Amino acid sequence: MAETQTSRSHWGSRIGFILAAAGSAVGLGNIWRFPYMAGENGGSIFILLYLACILFLGLPIIVAEVMLGKASQSNPVGAFKALDGPRSPWQVVGFMGVLAAFVILSFYSVVAGWCIGFIYKSVTGVFQPGHSAEEVAAIFGEMVGSVRTQGLCHGLFMILTVGIVLAGVRRGLERWTEILMPVLIILLLLLVGYGLTRPGAMAGLEFMLKPDPSKLTGRTVLDAMGQCFFSLSLGMGAMLTYGSYMRREDRAVGSSFWVVVMDTGIALLAGFAVFPMVFAFGQQPDAGPGLVFKTMPAAFLQMPGGTWVALAFFILLLFAALTSAISLLEVVTAYFIDEFGMSRRTAAVMFGAICFLMGMGCVYGDGYLGFLDNLQGNFLLPVGALFISLFAGWKLDRQIAQVEFEGQWYGVAFGAWRWCIRIAAPLLVLLVILNAWGLFDRLFQG
Ligand code: TRP
Repeated sequence: MAETQTSRSHWGSRIGFILAAAGSAVGLGNIWRFPYMAGENGGSIFILLYLACILFLGLPIIVAEVMLGKASQSNPVGAFKALDGPRSPWQVVGFMGVLAAFVILSFYSVVAGWCIGFIYKSVTGVFQPGHSAEEVAAIFGEMVGSVRTQGLCHGLFMILTVGIVLAGVRRGLERWTEILMPVLIILLLLLVGYGLTRPGAMAGLEFMLKPDPSKLTGRTVLDAMGQCFFSLSLGMGAMLTYGSYMRREDRAVGSSFWVVVMDTGIALLAGFAVFPMVFAFGQQPDAGPGLVFKTMPAAFLQMPGGTWVALAFFILLLFAALTSAISLLEVVTAYFIDEFGMSRRTAAVMFGAICFLMGMGCVYGDGYLGFLDNLQGNFLLPVGALFISLFAGWKLDRQIAQVEFEGQWYGVAFGAWRWCIRIAAPLLVLLVILNAWGLFDRLFQG
């Protein structure tokens, strides 16, 4: 009995990290943001760059973050103090992470609110079988045009997030990830199949697979990089915080690898589900943040039992968004509990309320959501990731990093990681940021 218990708890612990981390990573970023970013950036070329970023930045940096958390057993600010001394200037990286969490959560909740709105519309019969793409787009437009509806849904989502962080039922929720993530994957596969069999769908496939080099700009590269960090929850200490709950005998590398595989796989599935439908239904791939909310329901409502499919899809998406949002609120609450001795209750309620108010800006102002999204994706997360890789590569004790690689391919993997994290990743991120700020334009124009 005792033995079963230890072996079960061991398994439970490793899978516990993977579920929490995958729950954080898989969310609106995969299903809402990835297709809309790819659609705005020429499709295939963006997807290629995104995959390159995952390989050379996402993979090494997620390992670095988890490693820093595990080694320090602390929140993002405390981690740098624990590893580099109480007056370490690297703490600033942690502060930036906490700031990024505020920014992300405030608009994330607005978009997640759209899911709640659409769940309501599926149940109350606003969505009718046979609705055309134009009718669905009009329903979406009406929702985001209404301060009341949007504010209400955004508020509801924030209450749910705060409630879960408060009730401490996170663990229970993570178990659901085990069940609902496969369901989400199956539903996406069905949608891919449905989309690909529509007349005109091949144009969507071509859009995703045939690179058009004329679409390659500095901006595309920056967007792909930001999407890589956003989707993997990197650059602000969320993965660091989850790594800090990891047991000593578990390895950062293997677990992180699976999280990356799952996250990237689900993003690609979402792309293969969305773009064939976009082209089959004669819509524009560069429709912006509303893309998935306009395309998906339009496709569902052509299917038999479509309102149910819509309902299932938005419930699954809402769930995926919740497990991501709690990871954002968790970073902020953990920080204020650890560093200021605040109670969990005060911290969660207070910061939930602040994010709600900040998010209301997106409900009132048109361009504000895009502004916050740009701020985090093109600035806060890349800069955070840059410093995290510098710290893990140049400051962190080599031995601490090395043990995480024990196992198969030990030497090769460690060598490759170290080269990436010390040289390739910081250099790449820096160049992309400088380029986006126009440095090279000025240099080359003389
Ligand atoms: N990765 C999540 C998604 O794809 C969003 C998210 C959760 C996040 N926590 C984060 C993004 C921390 C950046 C940092 O939907």
